[in-house]
Formats: sequence, structure tokens, C-alpha cells
Amino acid sequence: MKISPMIRNNICLNAHPAGCAKDVEEQVLRVLDKMKGTVPAKSPRHALVIGCSSGYGLASRIVAAFGYGASTLGISFEREPAASKTGSPGWYTNRAVDRLAAQRGIAAKSYSVDAFSKEAKRLAIEEARAQGYAYDLVIYSLASPVRVDPETGTMYRSVIKPIGTSYSGTTADPFTGKLAQASVEPASAQEVADTVKVMGGEDWKLWIDALAQAGVLKKGALSVAYSYIGPPLSHPIYKDGTIGKAKENLEHAARSLNIHYADLDFKAFISINKAVVTRSSAVIPIIPLYISALFKVMKDDGSHEDCLDQMARLFSDRLYLGSGKTVPVDSEGRIRLDELEMRDSVQNKVVELMGKINEENLPLLSDLEGFKADFLRVHGFGIPGVDYQAEVDPLA
Ligand SMILES: NC(=O)c1ccc[n+]([C@@H]2O[C@H](COP(=O)([O-])OP(=O)(O)OC[C@H]3O[C@@H](n4cnc5c(N)ncnc54)[C@H](O)[C@@H]3O)[C@@H](O)[C@H]2O)c1
Repeated sequence: MKISPMIRNNICLNAHPAGCAKDVEEQVLRVLDKMKGTVPAKSPRHALVIGCSSGYGLASRIVAAFGYGASTLGISFEREPAASKTGSPGWYTNRAVDRLAAQRGIAAKSYSVDAFSKEAKRLAIEEARAQGYAYDLVIYSLASPVRVDPETGTMYRSVIKPIGTSYSGTTADPFTGKLAQASVEPASAQEVADTVKVMGGEDWKLWIDALAQAGVLKKGALSVAYSYIGPPLSHPIYKDGTIGKAKENLEHAARSLNIHYADLDFKAFISINKAVVTRSSAVIPIIPLYISALFKVMKDDGSHEDCLDQMARLFSDRLYLGSGKTVPVDSEGRIRLDELEMRDSVQNKVVELMGKINEENLPLLSDLEGFKADFLRVHGFGIPGVDYQAEVDPLA
């Protein structure tokens, strides 16, 4: 079959197998290029990447494996393909990572399994035991709308809503170029609690506890979970909303893990990353318009970064600086990779642009095209060199 993007309400329902593989190949080449001629002062040896198949998790895995030579075990939850239907993008990106790693003699294995389940933890522990290693890096990069509690079997849903008052803001549809007002009613107390249950730190702690109890968390291991703060204009829907509450809980989890596993010399970090286009960020009201304006400003001043640039910097300039050097953090103990996005010079221009944007000048004042291109790329579409007219077997 020929595969072209099927998009509904900023969600892409399919993926292109060859395009997803090409995207991974290009990210691998980029990281090899970034690392050319450098000998890292310190490296992870065995990385576990939870949420490994797209966005920040995929980029983290590519940097760990191809930039630093670490073995990687990737955990993500994918939709399998059928003869007439493609799998999720991650189904194909995981296969590409495993294949490219094998070609270079780097150990890499991917499991499609619900990361919130006991089964996922069991698989990661068994793999470490079978290979005779312990994880020295655990990346926690899940973005999920639902979580089934592994003890009770109850399913919880996360929502992206403001707390206390309703929110309305302008949002852009990258595929029609239309602007619309998005209004979101405030979350109920139950919705706040459920979002914290899904996207907060409970499962991250369960992972670290399971690995430590099984003896497969190496002394001195690092773990990083990702978060976002963003500018004041997004706070009502993000930082001060349901998702922000979950991220606060993630920060609490980092602090309690650090106390609990101090004997293991284990360190848990929250890394505040830059706004980028991923499958998850496209569905948050106002974010597509904000990102389009942000990309315009950051591309114009030469400071634009995508997931791979950010994760390469996380490893080289934060986590693996060399012996005796501590990981640079802010006053709250968080790694900051959003410092370029949050500069006044950038934010003032973004606010100015967002104040002027209307449907006519949208293509000129924003980088909505860049948003659209990145969004398509995440699903394997619009990538130069891929023959989209060719017949493809989704199962191949
Ligand atoms: N996108 C941004 O702009 C941005 C900015 C800063 C921080 N972050 C944070 O980065 C993290 C990753 O987000 P992303 O934007 O890269 O998202 P993404 O949608 O690109 O990736 C999410 C990953 O989680 C996996 N996943 C989801 N549910 C799962 C489950 N039940 N079991 C196993 N795997 C599952 C997906 O398969 C995928 O690999 C999140 O914590 C997010 O808040 C994102």
C-alpha cells in the first residue's frame, strides 16, 4: 500500500515505516557528527530508556547508544502493524534503533510493553540479569494519557486543563493554517489527582525501587525525568494546570529518591527541556502557536534546537562532565536545558509576534511550516529521500 498521513485534530493516526527508519538514521548520523573527535570524559554503559520510541526518549536513547556507546534497553508501548494498517511510529523507530545499533556492535533491545506494568519492570530486570549488568542510567520519558495502576487494575486518565479558572487562548492548526480560540474548563479535583497519578512520579519511583531491589541499579547510577516550565503565557494551561501538578509530583519523587538511595550514591534529576514538536506537544492548546512563534525567533537568532540537540547537550554539558565535576542545576536542583528558550530577548520577541499574528500574516510571523514539518517527520512523513509513492508493506 501507499501510505500518506492521516491527521485528525492534530493527531496523526498512521506512520511511514521507511520514513521513521530514515528519521532515526538521520539522528544517528547527526549524533555521530556531533561526537566526532571528542572523547567523552565519562559515559553511561548500560542505559534503560522508558518511553524510548519518540521525542525526547528516542533522542536520549540515540545519544546514549550511538554517541556514548552504551547498551540500551528501550521500553515503549506500541501499536503493532497489520497487513492493511501501519503500526505506531515507535514500532518502526525501535526496530531502526535496534538494527542500526547491531550494525555497529552496540547492544540494543526494545520491548513494546506498558511501562506502568509490573511486567515491564520484570523484563528490564531479567534482561540486566541475563546480560550480567546493572543500569547506570535510567531515562524516564513517558508522555501518556492513561495509566493502569499495577496493584488495583484501575485505569486513570490524565487531562490537560487549567486549575481554578477556565482558560482560553488562541491556537493554530498547522494543517489548515487557521487560528481558533481554545477554551478549556477547569479540572475537577479528581481530574487533578488522576493526572498526577498518570504523569507524576509514582511510577518512576516504582521503577527505581524495582531495579534497586533486584540489584540491577548500579552504584552511582543516574536517572533523569523530563519536564517543562515554559513562559507565563502558557502557565495557566501547563505549569499551573493539571500537568504542572503532575510535574511538581515528579520533582518530589526526585527528591525522595535521592534521600532514599543516597547509600547507593544514586542521583535522580529533573531536566527542564525546551518546547519541541512531538506527538504529545501537538495536542496542548496554545502550544502549536507558541512553538511556531518560538521557532521563528530561535531559528532567526541561530539558537534553535530539536530533541536531539537538547539531549546531546544534556549528556555532554550536564550529566557526563567527568570525574570530580557535579551536574549543573538551578536553585531547585533541576537541570535546565530551556535556558535559551527562556531568555528575555527570545520571550519578548515571541510575545510581540503572538500579539500581531492573524491568519493572513501567520506564515510570515511564525514558523508554522516548521511545526508542521517536524510533526510530519515524527510520523515518518515529509522526509527528503523517502519515496512516498512506493508501495510499502506495513509489516515489513
Ligand atoms: N515535547 C515537549 O515540548 C517537551 C518539553 C519538555 C519536556 N517534555 C517532557 O518529555 C517527556 C517525553 O515527552 P515527549 O514530548 O518526548 O513525548 P512523545 O509522545 O514523543 O514520547 C512519549 C514516549 O512515551 C511512550 N509511552 C507512552 N505511554 C506509554 C506506556 N504506557 N508504556 C510505555 N511507553 C509509553 C511512547 O511510546 C513514547 O515513546 C514528557 O515527560 C514531557 O513532559 C516534553
